[in-house]
Amino acid sequence: MYEKKLGIIGIGKIGSTLLKAAVKLIGADKITTYDINTEVLNSTSKIYKVDTSANNMELVEKSKYILIAVLPQVIDDVLGEIGKLIKKDQIIISIAAGVSISHINRFISEEYQIVRVMSNVAALIGEAATAISKNRHVNQENLKFILNLFKSVGLVVELDERHLDAVTGLSGSGPAYIFLIIEALADGGVKMGLPREVALKLSAQTVLGSAKLLLETNSHPAALKDKVASPGGTTITALHLLESDKLRASLITAVEAATKKSRALNTQK
Ligand SMILES: NC(=O)c1ccc[n+]([C@@H]2O[C@H](COP(=O)([O-])OP(=O)(O)OC[C@H]3O[C@@H](n4cnc5c(N)ncnc54)[C@H](OP(=O)(O)O)[C@@H]3O)[C@@H](O)[C@H]2O)c1
Repeated sequence: MYEKKLGIIGIGKIGSTLLKAAVKLIGADKITTYDINTEVLNSTSKIYKVDTSANNMELVEKSKYILIAVLPQVIDDVLGEIGKLIKKDQIIISIAAGVSISHINRFISEEYQIVRVMSNVAALIGEAATAISKNRHVNQENLKFILNLFKSVGLVVELDERHLDAVTGLSGSGPAYIFLIIEALADGGVKMGLPREVALKLSAQTVLGSAKLLLETNSHPAALKDKVASPGGTTITALHLLESDKLRASLITAVEAATKKSRALNTQK
């Protein structure tokens, strides 16, 4: 029996978002935290009224689930500290981008329970697109808790780990592609005389509304596109131009390139 259900290592942007979600899900009394930055650690523990551990080793002694939310560059330091302390009934959850389960196995036995998560920046506002991969030792009950935690910050899919580079290329890096599109649409509005602030608001809301409409009606994007493109109208005129300028091919190539880059970075790690 562990003193705490969940221990979170690294209370930065994503760690603190997941801490907030976990407090709602299981209650502050079931959580301990550690961050190398004592100021960050103390301020977040004050806000969320959670326990703090003196270091990563103490956190591991106390916690059943251990969520590692540090940057990929420092994860080896954390794994080096805690690897030998992990027991078979504990569950390691890593959200570090590009860090494979086999890399984690350099520090923690292959016989132990490990989950790798690839989320995105929209977790900060509860709208993440998250993929979760587990090794074969993670049982359904433990998986359920982890799925529920990430569901509380957005959409979650469970996937085989071999797909996580493609997830990185699509939804991990994807917010940046969409920001570029939002900015470019707003530039178009400004070019046609709209005030910048108004153009940006209209552009962002258009992306948000279109995505919501698609998800809430469970429609195919082509069907929705056909509905808004009236014969001989403005929309089909613009769509023709976007097809000629290969917007569709550019986005496909972008996801492909980011996936390949993610694969290459994984091989280096
Ligand atoms: N941000 C995103 O949009 C996003 C999306 C998906 C996944 N991720 C993944 O989530 C992880 C965290 O990202 P983030 O943006 O939240 O990073 P972050 O804001 O830099 O937070 C990481 C925290 O961990 C602390 N830390 C560093 N070394 C530590 C150690 N040895 N032990 C305990 N704590 C330590 C850092 O302190 P110092 O600042 O003092 O070093 C910092 O407070 C990354 O692996 C990233 O790949 C991030």
